[in-house]
Amino acid sequence: MKRVLDIALALLGLPVWLPVLLVGMAIVALTMGRPVFYVSERAGKGGKAFRFWKLRTMREGEGADEARLTATGKWLRKFSIDELPQLFLVLAGRMSLVGPRPLPVKYLTRYSAEQAIRHQVLPGITGWAQVNGRNALSWERKFELDAWYVRNRSLKLDLKILAMTIGKMFDFSGINHEGCATMTEFEGTEKKRGKFVTFEGGEGCGKSTQIKRLAARLAEKGIETVLTREPGGTVLNERIRTLIKDQLEEAPVDKCELLLFLAARAQLVEKVIRPALASGKWVVSDRFSDSTMAYQGYGRGMDLGTVELMNSFACGGLEPDLTLLLDLPEETARARMRQREAQTATSADRIEQAGREFHARLRAGFLAMQKAEPGRIKLVDASGTVDEVETEIWKSVAPIV
Ligand code: TMP
Repeated sequence: MKRVLDIALALLGLPVWLPVLLVGMAIVALTMGRPVFYVSERAGKGGKAFRFWKLRTMREGEGADEARLTATGKWLRKFSIDELPQLFLVLAGRMSLVGPRPLPVKYLTRYSAEQAIRHQVLPGITGWAQVNGRNALSWERKFELDAWYVRNRSLKLDLKILAMTIGKMFDFSGINHEGCATMTEFEGTEKKRGKFVTFEGGEGCGKSTQIKRLAARLAEKGIETVLTREPGGTVLNERIRTLIKDQLEEAPVDKCELLLFLAARAQLVEKVIRPALASGKWVVSDRFSDSTMAYQGYGRGMDLGTVELMNSFACGGLEPDLTLLLDLPEETARARMRQREAQTATSADRIEQAGREFHARLRAGFLAMQKAEPGRIKLVDASGTVDEVETEIWKSVAPIV
């Protein structure tokens, strides 16, 4: 009966959806060029792979989904025109009008037994999860709704979902997941790795305050977070920190300084960061590898390639999922440093005392690294109020929560 309903509705609607699809194809061809369709392998009924078609809404190539989504693409998604090619898949019996959304084949090994129930029926163009929030739901919640649909499916429920879908098409609240163009990848519910977020920037940029604010926000979301700082974060590393920062009678030469930072990093990665991430906790670190590139590479003038290689050795290739670069004009940074010294009655440490040119070089270095890796390193204007900077930071963090 469901199959009859699928074919009848797809054919009845054909005079409406086919012209809309053709216009959509023409718009994609004119604004984005070829290919017009985005084709991917998705898991169908029984987990069997099939070719899934959509109108293309993103630019081809590397980069975050959000950055690749075009203005036309956004518009096509808004009215769900990008999904129309799937009506052919309905006619071909690969999909149904109503059912759990077909997802990438690589997810098949990541579902729990309960979540895998979604493959007992044909995948759908719309479904119970879609009419209950679309991308605005977490993967876990969507799969719960899919499983509920599979267990409670009936013709009446399908008709209800179709009616609700039409209502939803005129309510665009759920298309994006908190500002993210699409969903982040489903990595499996069990033993999901935590995220590694680092804060970088020159002296006086306000990292410490912002790290505390971020930790509070993550805690509100129920995310367990380990805070750490570099150099430091373990008993041994806090000792190394003193060796590096204090004005001892003997100052380290540049190579010695580099090796001390890297020694501390190796210890921190193995003792603190990796175990925390593996247990699903987030790690937020005040400075990490980018500081070494900026201070010892750009600042002290050591060979960048060598610094990069040695750093990679020290942290076993670990890279942050997200880096927030808090940037301040030099004058503002200097004024803040002076203010801090006056308030806390402390004096600048050995590195902070390095001259103006050193600080200008390291700021330029940070900005160059951000330009080279805009996907990972987000530039944050740190000259606003604490609240403004916090809001800007959250915009970058929210999509990976
Ligand atoms: P801070 O965390 O209190 O700012 O102190 C760390 C100091 O060490 C700061 O001046 C930046 C510097 N630093 C480096 O020169 N290289 C590094 O790899 C790291 C982590 C920090």
